[in-house]
Amino acid sequence: MIQQFEKIKSVKGVLNLPGDKSISHRAVMFASLAKGESVIRNCSNSDDVKSTMNIFSQLGIRIDVGGEKIKIIGKGFNGLKISESELFAGNSGTTARLLSGILSAQKFNSVITGDESLSLRPMLRIVEPLRLMGADINASELGTLPLIIYPNRNLHAIEYKMKVASAQVKSAIILAAIHLDEETIIYESTRTRDHSERMLGIKTEVQNNITRIVVSKKNYPQPFEITIPADISTASFFIVLTLLSKDSELLIKNVSLNPTRTGIINLLSSMGGAIEIENEIMMNGEICGDIKVKSSQLKNIDIPAEIIPNIIDEVPILSVAGLFADGSFKINHAKELRIKESDRIKSLCYNYKILGLDVVEEDDGFELHGNIKNETDIVFESFGDHRIAMAFAVLSMLIKNGGAVNQFESVAVSNPDFLEQIKQLC
Ligand code: S3P
Repeated sequence: MIQQFEKIKSVKGVLNLPGDKSISHRAVMFASLAKGESVIRNCSNSDDVKSTMNIFSQLGIRIDVGGEKIKIIGKGFNGLKISESELFAGNSGTTARLLSGILSAQKFNSVITGDESLSLRPMLRIVEPLRLMGADINASELGTLPLIIYPNRNLHAIEYKMKVASAQVKSAIILAAIHLDEETIIYESTRTRDHSERMLGIKTEVQNNITRIVVSKKNYPQPFEITIPADISTASFFIVLTLLSKDSELLIKNVSLNPTRTGIINLLSSMGGAIEIENEIMMNGEICGDIKVKSSQLKNIDIPAEIIPNIIDEVPILSVAGLFADGSFKINHAKELRIKESDRIKSLCYNYKILGLDVVEEDDGFELHGNIKNETDIVFESFGDHRIAMAFAVLSMLIKNGGAVNQFESVAVSNPDFLEQIKQLC
C-alpha cells in the first residue's frame, strides 16, 4: 500500500502511546513461564508482540486479551508443552532470539520460523552461546531460520563474553540460564538494553566499564502485575516531527526512560532540541516520565561510537533530524543496521538519493550532504521495514509538496496506530 502524506502546518497536543515493545515481549514471555496468573496493562499492540503471544498460546499457555489488560496463566517450570506445528515469529527478531533461549531448556522439540525478512537475519549469534551451554540447536546452512531445537539433555551454566552488542543475544543466554541451578555469568563491554535483567531481578555489577551479569534459577519469574510505559522508540518519530515543525508543542505521557534507551533524547537535546522530562517515576523497576517537546532549530553533532547500541532503533528517524539540522549528518560504527528488519544503511541511502542529496554510503554508516533538490512526486521505499516507513512518513510531512511511502502497512510491526496518532496531532 502506498500512503500519501501532505506537508503539515504544526504538531499540537498530548499523546498516550502503547507500551514499549521490548518490555511487552518480555512481559508475555515471563508471565508464560511463571506459575499462575499475571496481568499486563498497556501492552504493545504491535504485530511483533502478537507473534510472541501466538507462540506461547501454541506452547499451551492461556492468554486472555480483554479491554485494558491481558491476563496470562503461566504454567511454571517445565510447564510449556510441545507445539504440533512450527512456531512462526513473523518479522520479530526479539521473539525468535529470546524464544530460542527458553526452548533450549525444554524437554521437547521445537522449530522456529519467520517471514522473509526475519529469515535473512543472522541466528548464529545465539546458536553459538546456546551450544556452549549444551543446547542442541541448529540453524540453516546460512546461519539463519529455521531454528531447530532438540530436547534439553545437557544444559549447563557458562561464563560468556559478549561478542556483539546485542540485548537479544544477552537475553537468549539469560533465558536459558534461568533454568539452571548453577550461575551463568555474562560479561558485556558495551551496555545494551537491560529490561530482562530488571524484570527478572538479575544482579549486575559494572567494573572497569564491563558489566557482569549473574543469572541462575533464582531469577526464574514469579507471577506479576505490570503497567508497561510508552515506547520511547515509537515516541521518537513524534519527537522529531515536533522539533522540526513550526509553532509546535507536544506532550508524550509516561514514556519508558530506561537509561539504556534514552540516547535519542540525549542526542536530540545536544543538537539543540527543546526537550524536557517531567513527572519522572519508577514503575515496575523501570524509570518513566512525560516528554515535552517544542519546535527547535537543530545542529548536527558527532555521534559517539559507544552510544550506537543505545540508539540502534532510532537511527532512521535521527537521520531525518540530521537532514534538517545545520551542518552535515554523519554516522559510523553502526554496521548492525545492515542486519535489522532491512539493511537500514542501504534503505536510508536509497531514499535520501531520491531527494537529490549527495549520499556517501559506508560499510558501517553513511553521510548526507547538500540540499533537497527533488520535491515533486516523491515516493519513498520502506523495504517493508516499519522504522524506515515511519521515518520517511515524518520526512514526507516536512517537505514542500509532501511525499508518499510504499509498503506503508509495515508500520503495524511496531505501531499499527501511527496514522490515527498523526491525524490527532497535526
Ligand atoms: C531488542 C534489542 C535490539 C533492538 C530490537 C529489540 C530487544 O536488537 O534493535 O528492536 O528487545 O532486546 P539487538 O539487541 O539485536 O541489537
